[in-house]
Amino acid sequence: MGYHDIREFISVLEAHGKLRHVKKEVDPSWEIAGMARWVYQGFPEERRFALVFDNVKDSSIPVATALIGASREVYALALGTTPEKIHEVWLQALRHTIPPRLVRSGPCQEVVIGREKVDLSALPVPTWTPGKDMRPCITAVVITKNHDTGVQNMGTYRCQVQSKDTVTLNTMPGRQAYQNYESYARHGKPAPLAVAIACEPVVHLATSAALPKGIDELHLAGALKGAAVATVRAMTVDLQVPANAEIIVEGELQPSKTMQEDSFGEFAGYMGPGGQKPFFQVASMTHRSNPIYYGYISQFPPSESTMIQGNANECMVHKLLVDDFGETTVVDVAINQTHGGNLGHAVVQMTPIYPQHAMHVGRLVAELTRFKMITIVDCDIDIRDRQHLDWAWNSRVNPARDTLVIEKVFVPNDPAADRGITSKLIIDATHKGTFPDLSLPAKEVMLRAYESWQEADLPAFNLPSRVERLLDFHAQRMQGQT
Ligand SMILES: Cc1cc2nc3c(=O)[nH]c(=O)nc-3n(C[C@H](O)[C@H](O)[C@H](O)COP(=O)(O)O)c2cc1C
Repeated sequence: MGYHDIREFISVLEAHGKLRHVKKEVDPSWEIAGMARWVYQGFPEERRFALVFDNVKDSSIPVATALIGASREVYALALGTTPEKIHEVWLQALRHTIPPRLVRSGPCQEVVIGREKVDLSALPVPTWTPGKDMRPCITAVVITKNHDTGVQNMGTYRCQVQSKDTVTLNTMPGRQAYQNYESYARHGKPAPLAVAIACEPVVHLATSAALPKGIDELHLAGALKGAAVATVRAMTVDLQVPANAEIIVEGELQPSKTMQEDSFGEFAGYMGPGGQKPFFQVASMTHRSNPIYYGYISQFPPSESTMIQGNANECMVHKLLVDDFGETTVVDVAINQTHGGNLGHAVVQMTPIYPQHAMHVGRLVAELTRFKMITIVDCDIDIRDRQHLDWAWNSRVNPARDTLVIEKVFVPNDPAADRGITSKLIIDATHKGTFPDLSLPAKEVMLRAYESWQEADLPAFNLPSRVERLLDFHAQRMQGQT
């Protein structure tokens, strides 16, 4: 039934050896981000862990990072499942959402700080690209509401701290937070907003998915958890906020006014220019009596941001293809984490059943998403294994025949784009015609050799799933079952 709050999840990460506490004093203006960067640059994915900085300079509030997106294994733990079942849990949740449960009070409002006393410098907000970002940024769950429909939205957005009580919101046309902001601005009214920091894990997981318009991510969060997410009414704005969050910052986005956001390290791996953004004055801040701060590490990929967005987006695309476009021979979708979230390289695994079927699915993905490169592979390929993908590209793609470039596509934030205009590449890496037999011994021989390996007392290794998948697929094919 999911975790009650981020504290419970921190204990679970500890129990699984997936979290380290940093006891030495750290400076949030450079040291937290600098050290967290090494989680991604210093370790292969399977050895990465979350960090909690217990002793933050000039603050009594500990700072956690990489809590949910250290690795796919950590992400699965946040979802209460195993890596193999991430898609199953997401697809079920997208099909059967669970509305939130409004309660009278919650830990997130144990301490209430009114407008006149608010000072955001009391929070240990890290500077995420030290020496390059001009200001610290809160990267958290942003809750807004549509004026006309009354439906709430949650998204993860960068909130750059401009002064002790003023914050810019990095949202843009196309994003639901922006549409909600405009829905109030059209009536000349300020738009209510709440920033929820360190919520129960499913809230964070649900907010990195671009759900179809009009669906409140709190409903998805409930379904991911398997139980309704408890909410309380915000103190100063007409919104419901996650009751078990650590910290809530409330305010109103000013209609038709913007403020300069300074340059900031972007998820694609380069510095972004900043620009004029909607902003809000903090109307109140509430928190637990001894709160924990949680900030995602984004910027240079791979990062917590690309990990979280990649996992959410691959599940969304999987659901769209199978449920909404009837592509029932699609088995899996993976997004390579090093390419940076939306600009990622999507790999779709499927059984093509008619000529150019794989290319058709590739075109669908290109139209429905912001991914720049889409590769379609057969079901014998382990789509999360780079070595296997390279083999599919090398042995099944005739570039002149099997690739398609889609030109004149607008993709925001693409560093390679020309004023936002770029192109996309689809690669049909499925085998065409009859598969030749593999130059790899049959599974029984390989398994006997594995036993001989162990008897010979050679260094231990786990059977790579790519080899098992390949051998099983082709054994069945030889028996005429595929
Ligand atoms: C760590 C992190 C930071 C993000 N920062 C932003 C951001 O500043 N602006 C933005 O538009 N999207 C950002 N995103 C992506 C959005 O959260 C995501 O696409 C979400 O689906 C937007 O939802 P919405 O359109 O429902 O508001 C970020 C995602 C993550 C995981």
